[in-house]
Amino acid sequence: MSAHLALDEPEPAVADDGVWLTCIECGETFAPFDDVRYTCDDCDGLLEVRYADLPTWDDFGAGGSPESGPYGVWRYSAGLPFEEGVSLPEGGTPLHYVPSIEDEVGVNNLRIKHEGMNPTGSFKDRGMTVGVRVAKEVGVNRLACASTGNTSAALAAYGARGGMETLVLLPAGKVAAGKVAQASLHGARILEVDGNFDSCLDIVQDLAARGEAYLLNSLNPFRLEGQKTIGLEIMERFHADEGTYPDRIVLPVGNAGNTAALYKCFRELREAGAIDESDVPKLTGVQAEGAAPMVEAVEEGNDEVRRWDDVETRATAIRIGNPVNAPKALPGIRETGGTAVAVSDEEITEAQRDLAEEGVGVEPASAASLAGLRKLRDAGEIDDDEDVVCLTTGHLLKDPDAAYEAGGDPEPVPNDTEAVLEHIDDGSPSVFETVREQGSKAADSPLIPALVAGGLGLAYLYRKLRSEQ
Ligand code: F0G
Repeated sequence: MSAHLALDEPEPAVADDGVWLTCIECGETFAPFDDVRYTCDDCDGLLEVRYADLPTWDDFGAGGSPESGPYGVWRYSAGLPFEEGVSLPEGGTPLHYVPSIEDEVGVNNLRIKHEGMNPTGSFKDRGMTVGVRVAKEVGVNRLACASTGNTSAALAAYGARGGMETLVLLPAGKVAAGKVAQASLHGARILEVDGNFDSCLDIVQDLAARGEAYLLNSLNPFRLEGQKTIGLEIMERFHADEGTYPDRIVLPVGNAGNTAALYKCFRELREAGAIDESDVPKLTGVQAEGAAPMVEAVEEGNDEVRRWDDVETRATAIRIGNPVNAPKALPGIRETGGTAVAVSDEEITEAQRDLAEEGVGVEPASAASLAGLRKLRDAGEIDDDEDVVCLTTGHLLKDPDAAYEAGGDPEPVPNDTEAVLEHIDDGSPSVFETVREQGSKAADSPLIPALVAGGLGLAYLYRKLRSEQ
């Protein structure tokens, strides 16, 4: 583990109610809410939120069972800097079973943690509920982010909820329609930049450094505090269902904020004694082939990630060439024994369709997790006895154009019942015929006479009892 990712440091004098910030590069510590700060004053390294007391399962919700207490981000407030935040509310997303895909991929267990079921349709809400609460604490009035879309939708909604002005910088023409619509309706000021996401992030960082706005990209360490509750929910729910923790979590990677947040979740659970080292799931990152700098770094064994200037993928949410959280996320992938893999746009679309066939509607970037799992299984890098959770990060409706492209085409029909009947007639039995056939099959079953006899018996008993009254 790199020097300052261990959580065993003593509480520094700058701590506020047991909470402080530590630079993961040089170990310098800072007060959490005295000033506006995103990176280390001394070396510009990434900051991490640290706590004097780390909670374990019993400290969460009403006693640590996923069935008890409210389900959502603030259920885990014992592991967050505040008791409550600016909330819509968020978290408590489903951990779907997908039996057909599980069989086809060939793993012991496959569950889908569908983060598209958050209030604005992506996992970003978990970070914003904490981030906007911190913005209130430090007393800023204007919030800003660069975004491939989902962060801007979440910031706009949570900023509106918190009564704050919001400014979002988007790569022009590269953001899915649903996300721009959300930012627009929630009242964000939308600046479309003639450049990619990484240029937008450069600019918004400059604006934040000049004090023009409070930065709520995942560089802001408080965002990741909210996002680490994805890991807490997965661990709690999976354990309640299966009596064990998942062996692996597969997730799409853009800025690598989520990967960093999950790694922090597992480090904290370890340090608190809530899980053993062997319980830590292997963090497995997936990127699109056209935007895969993290995969390159993992494959080449590099400690630093090379910035890709030209990036392209249909999964616009992860069209990112400079994953700013790499210094937190790369050690996470390595220390947990995970890996990273790149998938093609075609593989992403196929996975999106397969999830949709199980009723799970996700946007393209989200489907990258399943596409990556498949690829690693085919390559023999994941065993058939593994328990795997794939994270799907955003809802299908975020990117309606991609959904239309991946799905079937609407069929024009005349405004006439007979013509519609003719159009849909493919020779298969009608609903009435199917029901009648099932009915006659059921009548042949030995269960039916037994049920009828039982019913008659009960009716006789009932009448007898009434006549005796
Ligand atoms: N999946 C979706 C749907 C996303 O929107 C993002 C990031 C990711 C995965 C990657 O997550 O950055 O934590 O590795 N979207 C950001 C945005 C960049 O602006 O909405 P990460």
